[in-house]
Amino acid sequence: MTALTLDIAVRTLFSSTLPGEARQVGQAMTFLMRYSLRRQRSPFRIPERWPTPQNRRANRELELIDSLVYRIISERRAEGNSNHRNDLLALLMAVMDEDGTHMTPQQLHDEAMTLFIAGHETTAQMLAWTWFALSQNPAADARLHQELSDVLGGRPLDATDLPKLPYLQAVMSEVLRLYPPAYIMARETVETCELGGYVFAPDTTIIFSQWVMHRDPRYYDDPDAFRPERWLDGLANRLPPGAYFPFGAGPRRCIGEGFALLEAATVIATLAQRFRFNLVPGHPVIAEPLVTLRQRHGIRMTLHARN
Ligand code: HEM
Repeated sequence: MTALTLDIAVRTLFSSTLPGEARQVGQAMTFLMRYSLRRQRSPFRIPERWPTPQNRRANRELELIDSLVYRIISERRAEGNSNHRNDLLALLMAVMDEDGTHMTPQQLHDEAMTLFIAGHETTAQMLAWTWFALSQNPAADARLHQELSDVLGGRPLDATDLPKLPYLQAVMSEVLRLYPPAYIMARETVETCELGGYVFAPDTTIIFSQWVMHRDPRYYDDPDAFRPERWLDGLANRLPPGAYFPFGAGPRRCIGEGFALLEAATVIATLAQRFRFNLVPGHPVIAEPLVTLRQRHGIRMTLHARN
């Protein structure tokens, strides 16, 4: 799923394609996420520049991702102005401050890197958890397949089909509820403030978690169960603010939400019409809270063609 969403992000946001080694981006990301969490938690912090095996590997993985992003930018620069592409990279390159300056190469690199990572990692996790949840819930899988064949009859989905696929949307909402790829967020107070009767001093870090809120029995019946049906009768409109926020909230809410949901719907509709995903028996699926909500051993599945 990571290779797929990375390919989609790079094609759509940057009108580019990646070489074969881009498949290693998923592994590189896993390593870097584990590495940075280990460093944060460790009481003894070995300086990053010391050539320990872990530090050297972290540098290699970072260089891999960096080089892919630089490659995309330099390919575009080489095209010059003659080629007016209509994608996000073109927008970033054209954007100007009030004083008429463009982004520096470093700024452009950093913005492109954000989109490169944010544009694929979360959606890959959402899709991986979707196949897992469907494999564990045959009734939901069957109902989804029925809806897809009634509405699409084997053809690919396009954006206008989405309103006709309420169960597909409910499946996605339920996956994002139980397995939110962004499972935790944090904010710092800039001034003294009061929240729920507690007073927080300036510079306090406040952490809040989608995983926790999305499984709160005050808002969800049988909160740990995968039940897409719960979304079919307007639950989204009845929930109080903050009970469901897979894409964050407020002014920094995810800018890629519409993109991610259409992408996920397209991938699920395409693959679920053709295949049933079965978990390899005995394969342990354990949620691993890294920067995103990953799986400690991945999710190993076999695909069975539907007739
Ligand atoms: C299922 C997929 C996705 C999930 C669950 C997700 C989740 C989130 C969340 C929770 C935030 C807010 C973080 C915070 O406020 O601290 C966020 C921000 C952001 N997301 Fe996503 N995202 C997804 C897909 C995407 C995609 C596809 C893109 C790009 C095409 C993207 C780009 C961004 C960017 C640039 C921000 C920062 C926005 C800002 O700070 O103003 N995301 N995302």
